[in-house]
Amino acid sequence: MGINKKSDLETYFRTNNSRLIHKWIHYFDIYERHFNKFRDTEVVILEIGVSHGGSLQMWKDYFGEKATIFGVDIDPRCKDFEEENIKICIGSQSNRSFLRALKKKIPKVDILIDDGGHTMEQQIVSYEELFCHVKENGIYVCEDLHTSYWLRYGGGHKRRGTFIEYSKNFIDHLNAFHSEQKSLQVSAFTTSVDSIHYYDSMIVIEKRKIEAPCDEQTGIASFRNEGHQKRTKTQKIKEKYRIFFLTKINKILRFFGQSGFIWK
Ligand SMILES: C[S@@+](CC[C@H](N)C(=O)[O-])C[C@H]1O[C@@H](n2cnc3c(N)ncnc32)[C@H](O)[C@@H]1O
Repeated sequence: MGINKKSDLETYFRTNNSRLIHKWIHYFDIYERHFNKFRDTEVVILEIGVSHGGSLQMWKDYFGEKATIFGVDIDPRCKDFEEENIKICIGSQSNRSFLRALKKKIPKVDILIDDGGHTMEQQIVSYEELFCHVKENGIYVCEDLHTSYWLRYGGGHKRRGTFIEYSKNFIDHLNAFHSEQKSLQVSAFTTSVDSIHYYDSMIVIEKRKIEAPCDEQTGIASFRNEGHQKRTKTQKIKEKYRIFFLTKINKILRFFGQSGFIWK
């Protein structure tokens, strides 16, 4: 968004006289960046955390009349906020059986927003059960990740078990095609995730079918023996030994937890 230009969602939020909505203000620009392409399509949305129902109404207004919105909340009172194109399912986002039953009940979604209870267990269980229920070109959003730093939520900087620490593994899986270790192999995440976006308090994972990456060169090399110019036999042998020794040395260094050694 341009400077001072409010997104449609923020404008809706600021002029909202309908059901209560609770969002961090900087989320609106992030929503706009990632959600805009789904407007006026037959988009399916699932938001965990209904509260007073205001955000579900906001999605309905933003995405248009072709959108189908599902909400999940542990509070049975939320069922009252159902209306045309808004369905609400009551259950806990940390209950795997409930989430598995939910997947059978509702279609795969284009956008999933986890704005539920924000505990580590809730965020991790919901991700583990529902990520596969986001469509091939869909988006998984987990909000209020600042709880990963709050003691009262079991958070802390680099603390084991937080959603932030858990999500750092996503970065490895995104790059797994390049891994040389058995401990990191191409996974369903690698082949289905296009990009991971970290913002203050929020992660946005965009899905897309991913093939093994490849690189190519085009154009004319500016230096001898670079680019796709032919190398001499001696140069080829030298390069082979360089790679062999570098690999051996680095295997040993890696085993002892030491940083890498290279020479060009
Ligand atoms: C932050 S509020 C949701 C705000 C709403 N999305 C909005 O933007 O206005 C969090 C909601 O998560 C619900 N919640 C808490 N624990 C939950 C759980 N284990 N499973 C599902 N929902 C839960 C609460 O009942 C509450 O309604």
